[in-house]
Amino acid sequence: MATNRTFTMIKPDAVKNGHIGNILAMITNAGFKIVSLKLTQLTVADAQAFYAVHSARPFYGELVEFMSSGPIVAAILEKENAVNDFRTLIGATNPAEAAEGTIRKLYATSMGENAVHGSDSDENAAIEGAFHFSGREQF
Ligand code: TYD
Repeated sequence: MATNRTFTMIKPDAVKNGHIGNILAMITNAGFKIVSLKLTQLTVADAQAFYAVHSARPFYGELVEFMSSGPIVAAILEKENAVNDFRTLIGATNPAEAAEGTIRKLYATSMGENAVHGSDSDENAAIEGAFHFSGREQF
């Protein structure tokens, strides 16, 4: 399996609740190398653009409002099979359905406020990483 990259955000709920350190520890303990990292905040326009694929869904307005409501941690991560292994580490979108020991099981509070984002394909990982980080910020 080739080494590749995924993109993640620690979402405003998890930042607000003081979980940055624990979540980054889970990520590095699972074998991911951090190649980009920053504390930042999405504007409403940023959140609309980032989640444009969901613009017709009923939860889009709330999602945009939530994702722009406070600081997030953005990161690019590298590992063999990064996209799929990271989706396994974070667990199901709905924390009620997330497996024991996953980041969402431990730290998400609801379906909407679910602690972390993880890219769903190599292609989206590259697009999402470039949304937040210039080439010079990717190590
Ligand atoms: P999605 O890409 O389907 O999930 P994931 O983050 O697991 O890849 O949805 C993006 C985000 O939208 C999700 O993390 C939380 C929010 N969301 C809702 O608030 N309600 C919903 O019914 C769904 C499907 C998603």
